[in-house]
Amino acid sequence: QEKRLLEGKRVLVTAGATVERIDPVRYLTNDSSGKMGYAIAEEAQRMGAIVTLVTGKASIAAPAGVTVVKVESALEMMEAVLSRLPEQDVIIKAAAVADYRPAEQAEHKIKKNEDEMTMRLVKNPDIAQAVGERKKPSQLLVGFAAETQHLETFAQEKLKKKRCDLLVANDVTMEGAGFGTDTNVVRIYDSGGLVEALPLMSKGQVAARLLALVADRLGKGR
Ligand code: PMT
Repeated sequence: QEKRLLEGKRVLVTAGATVERIDPVRYLTNDSSGKMGYAIAEEAQRMGAIVTLVTGKASIAAPAGVTVVKVESALEMMEAVLSRLPEQDVIIKAAAVADYRPAEQAEHKIKKNEDEMTMRLVKNPDIAQAVGERKKPSQLLVGFAAETQHLETFAQEKLKKKRCDLLVANDVTMEGAGFGTDTNVVRIYDSGGLVEALPLMSKGQVAARLLALVADRLGKGR
């Protein structure tokens, strides 16, 4: 019988891709499949946590036994996360959130007309940063970073800016890492620097290693 290291803890995980509508049939999105966040939700629940999974677009089914909140856009994801923030012990932001959304959403399907068209985009709020600004000292925030270069520098910058306790950086240029795959290659940082560099492993295994670190830190007088 393995120890249930997150027994009774409330863990909120975001996963998948946000969908930013252009018109009723078109949108901007990204390649996130939801696999990384869903693996974390599943593992957290196996470890005894009460799990809320806030999910954008994903290509797999949600794990059983967790509360699933489906959202579409970054703005919806932000509202879903912030409204549930006060009761959480741990917030893990594995979702790939669009940095920009179309400035206008057309009510009707946009017609083909001119030879060229321009779409204006506006910045989305940063959900992780909003959580970082609002969280209590007892709450633990885990961010993710998908990078193609300067992994360590960019990871440290994001960790500080978003006030994350831990940051999981995937080097998405590595074979078997990042978007869509069943495996990942990550480095986990805290404000002191590198905590763990994990080799290629399944997203379930990454989730287990990450949550073991989370459980350890929750126990330490937080
Ligand atoms: O879903 P999979 O196919 O399994 O792929 C997994 C993954 C690669 C999507 C995942 O492991 C991952 O890295 N997720 C974060 C990807 C990302 O968008 O990174 P980022 O560097 O753009 O964002 C950094 C952090 O800020 C993330 O925790 C992100 O959730 C958060 N963020 C970003 C923008 C924004 N507007 N709000 C946010 O909260």
